[in-house]
Amino acid sequence: MKIILIGPPGAGKGTQAKRLEEKYKIVQLSTGDMLRAEVAAGSELGTQAKAIMEKGGLVPDDLIIGMISGRIDQADCANGFILDGFPRTVPQAEALDDMFQAKGMELDGVIEVVVDDDAMVARITGRFTCAKCGAGYHDTFQRPRQEGVCDNCGGSEFTRRADDNEQTVRERLKAYHDQTAPITGYYGQRGLLKTVDGMASIDEVTKQLTDILG
Ligand code: AP5
Ligand code: MG
Repeated sequence: MKIILIGPPGAGKGTQAKRLEEKYKIVQLSTGDMLRAEVAAGSELGTQAKAIMEKGGLVPDDLIIGMISGRIDQADCANGFILDGFPRTVPQAEALDDMFQAKGMELDGVIEVVVDDDAMVARITGRFTCAKCGAGYHDTFQRPRQEGVCDNCGGSEFTRRADDNEQTVRERLKAYHDQTAPITGYYGQRGLLKTVDGMASIDEVTKQLTDILG
């Protein structure tokens, strides 16, 4: 199964992708997570991406396309993957089509997580992640069962993203509407686009997704 999750910052792409990974035994490919790993490693790509990400802009298409193309070829992707945060521009969507054709792969579907912009600032500024396993939480909507302890791995260190402040979130939302939203038309014209209501609870959104995916 090869699917794309589209949605603005805070829509719940990462939260849902982690759940779909487990259910369908496929891997989450988050270009945001890959870029953050490059930044942490201090690679050349990470150095180029860091300032752009901190301002809430989009990293140039050619860098992203090269990064994802290499990732899709890795063995753990053989059973399928969920693209989370890619493609994010029409040129990236076109490049993905070329990539799939060259690799003999087919896209099963594209799901847009529809949300209200106004609620996204609260979602993002309340987000935190387990430093050890990457499990995601929220100050209000998804607290660990035991305060300060990760439900998934028992870790006790948590991190917050450098771009999760109100000003940057507003820039990221703007980039989404200007540059990413047009790809819904790109896939909609081909009958590949479905939508879920991302304002519902986390469990309810998972149910909507699994109803679509079977
Ligand atoms: P990226 O990491 O992709 O960030 P984003 O798109 O801004 O999305 P987020 O990760 O913030 O949100 P999410 O939808 O995953 O929400 P989450 O599940 O965490 O990209 C970061 C940057 O990298 C970009 O700005 C850009 O610079 C660069 N980049 C990445 N890909 C690129 C590309 N292809 N091209 C160019 N540049 C690229 O949920 C958020 C919070 O809400 C969590 O705390 C969660 O617990 C909570 N929550 C989730 N669902 C619900 C719900 N239904 N109800 C209540 N709370 C919920
Ligand atoms: Mg995410």
